[in-house]
Amino acid sequence: MLDINHISKTFNPGTINEKKALQSLDLHLNEKDFVTVIGGNGAGKSTMLNAVAGVWPVDEGSILIDGTDVTGLPEFRRASYIGRVFQDPMMGTAPNMQIEENLALAYRRGKKRGLRWGVTKNEREFYHERLKILGLGLEDRMTVKAGLLSGGQRQALTLLMAALQKPKLLLLDEHTAALDPATAAKVLELSDRIVRENGLTALMITHNMKDAIRHGNRIIMMNEGRIILDISGEEKTKLTKADLLQKFAEVAGVQEETDQVLLS
Ligand SMILES: Nc1ncnc2c1ncn2[C@@H]1O[C@H](COP(=O)(O)OP(=O)(O)OP(=O)(O)O)[C@@H](O)[C@H]1O
Ligand SMILES: [Mg+2]
Repeated sequence: MLDINHISKTFNPGTINEKKALQSLDLHLNEKDFVTVIGGNGAGKSTMLNAVAGVWPVDEGSILIDGTDVTGLPEFRRASYIGRVFQDPMMGTAPNMQIEENLALAYRRGKKRGLRWGVTKNEREFYHERLKILGLGLEDRMTVKAGLLSGGQRQALTLLMAALQKPKLLLLDEHTAALDPATAAKVLELSDRIVRENGLTALMITHNMKDAIRHGNRIIMMNEGRIILDISGEEKTKLTKADLLQKFAEVAGVQEETDQVLLS
C-alpha cells in the first residue's frame, strides 16, 4: 500500500543549518498494516510523514501509494489518498463551523461539490451514524460549532473526518500527545477501532512506548533519518519497553539513560 524507496531530504543544504532529516529511507507497508513509529526528537518521524503527504518534494528516491507513483505530485493532489491527524487538536477541524459542516467538508474533499447546497438529510443521517461510533454523544450535537468541543472531542472528530473517505493511508503524528491520559487512551482505542473497521493502512507516531507496543501489528524505530528497527507480528506482541530501550542502545550506540529521556 505504501512504498518508500530510498528517499532523502536535507533541509537548508549548504548552509550552517543543514540538516539531513531523511537518509535513504526505505519502508514498505502492506495493506492494513498498522505501524507505530518511535524515535527520539529530531529522528525524522514527522519528516517521513510529511514526505509521504507531499508537503515538499524529496531530494531523491520515490514514493508509491497503492502502486501509484506520487513522488512528483503536490500535496493537494495526494490528499485524496491520505487522512492525517496532528498533535494539535485545533488543527484538524474548523472552529467556526458546525460538527456536521466539518464532516461534510471532509466527506466532500476532492469532490467537485462545495458546501453550497448545505448538508443534505441523507448526509446528516450518515454523519449521525458515524458520530455514534465515537461514544461521545456528539451525534446529538451536530449543529454545535467544533470550536466549542474539548481537545479530546476535537481529536476524535478529526479522526473520524480523516477516515471518512477511507483513505489509502492514515497518518497520525502524536495525535494523542496533547490530551490528558484518560482521553488519550480513549482516542487511541478509537484510532484502533477506526483503522480496523475501515481496513485502513496506518502510520502512527508516538513517544509513548507502551502505546507503540500495544497498538498496531508492526513497530519501527527511527534514528537520524533512518529506520533502525522494524518488528512485526508475533515478535511484536512479545516486545517490552525494556527490549525497545535495549535495542535502541544497541543500534544507535547510545546510553540507555539517554534513550529513556529521548523515547519516553
Ligand atoms: N521544514 C523544515 N525546515 C528545516 N528543518 C526541518 C524542517 N522539518 C524538520 N526539520 C529538521 O529535521 C529534523 C527531523 O525533524 P522531525 O520533525 O522529522 O523530527 P521528529 O522525529 O518528528 O521529532 P519529534 O519527536 O521532536 O517530533 C530535525 O532536526 C528538524 O529540525
Ligand atoms: Mg515530530
